[in-house]
Amino acid sequence: MNIIKKPLWQISENEVTSEELFDNRRSFLKLGAAALVANSTVVDLLAKENVPPSNLQYKKDPNKDDLVLNSYEQITSYNNFYEFTTSKEGVKKLAQSMNPNPWSIEIDGLIDKPITVDVQDLIKKYTLEERIYRFRCVEGWSMVVPWIGFSLSKLIKDMNPHSDAKYVRFETRLDKKMFPDQARGSFATIPYPYIEGLRMDEAMSDLTLVSVGLYGKTLENQNGAPLRLVVPWKYGFKSIKSISRISFVKDEPLNTWQKSAPHEYGFYANVNPKVDHPRWSQKRERVLGKLFKQRTQLFNGYQEEVAAFYKDMDLRKNF
Ligand code: MTE
Repeated sequence: MNIIKKPLWQISENEVTSEELFDNRRSFLKLGAAALVANSTVVDLLAKENVPPSNLQYKKDPNKDDLVLNSYEQITSYNNFYEFTTSKEGVKKLAQSMNPNPWSIEIDGLIDKPITVDVQDLIKKYTLEERIYRFRCVEGWSMVVPWIGFSLSKLIKDMNPHSDAKYVRFETRLDKKMFPDQARGSFATIPYPYIEGLRMDEAMSDLTLVSVGLYGKTLENQNGAPLRLVVPWKYGFKSIKSISRISFVKDEPLNTWQKSAPHEYGFYANVNPKVDHPRWSQKRERVLGKLFKQRTQLFNGYQEEVAAFYKDMDLRKNF
């Protein structure tokens, strides 16, 4: 993210209406007149192309906002996972060598009984749900993903943290054999292990998801197998992948991107079109697979659910 590149999406600004016309026309041409049904159904059909068979049981998301899903191919072929490479198109291939099984997770810090648990045993404890979320990267691209997982709040309640646990800290596995960039030692792109954190109220939001799959299927390695976080109102870098440790702590954790470039990335990282990145605007975003940019929404469209967390905070200072 702190590598300067001229992104594809910086081509031109366009009106929203022409974008809709463009998409409708493409869907129509692809499926033919026989499939002249509601637009969302057409896009749904397209999105389901090339999706491997489902292997998870979960409660379906009714998709009440009628979000248009990105395809499985798009979500699993354009990734940020620095432990492998900084090339978004290169992650998928390199991640094939990763073995997310067996995988243990340590849960520790300000709780009575710290545990080390096998990821499959942990997952079995919770009913899985589909959550169709907008996902906005700080770099200016976005997608809509049908994640599968469970609310982090359920795990937190089961761990019964002490009252002085004000934050939850997450760590990605440290394994030089698994992750080539970690093996580069002091020449690594970012400091490892990758670390993220949430304030306790943010962590307890029902929106905050521990994800174990997408499109009904177990997570691909490149998307953070076997278990990752998804925080849909924050920039994508908060959604830490391949978690191996969850700690309940008193002080605000220093997350990886804040440590790497504190003037550019903060702790909160709430999606906010009014607070630009020092090197680019955050007013608009390019949805993967679309030619034209769309407006970015405050808290990525989840204002109703999360705005109260920040009511007394200056979002420019706490970026
Ligand atoms: N987690 C780890 N461990 N390493 C990473 O490099 N990249 C982050 C986040 N989680 C990252 C990570 C960033 S910048 C983004 S945008 C999302 O993962 C990308 O998730 P995706 O590849 O599933 O779209």
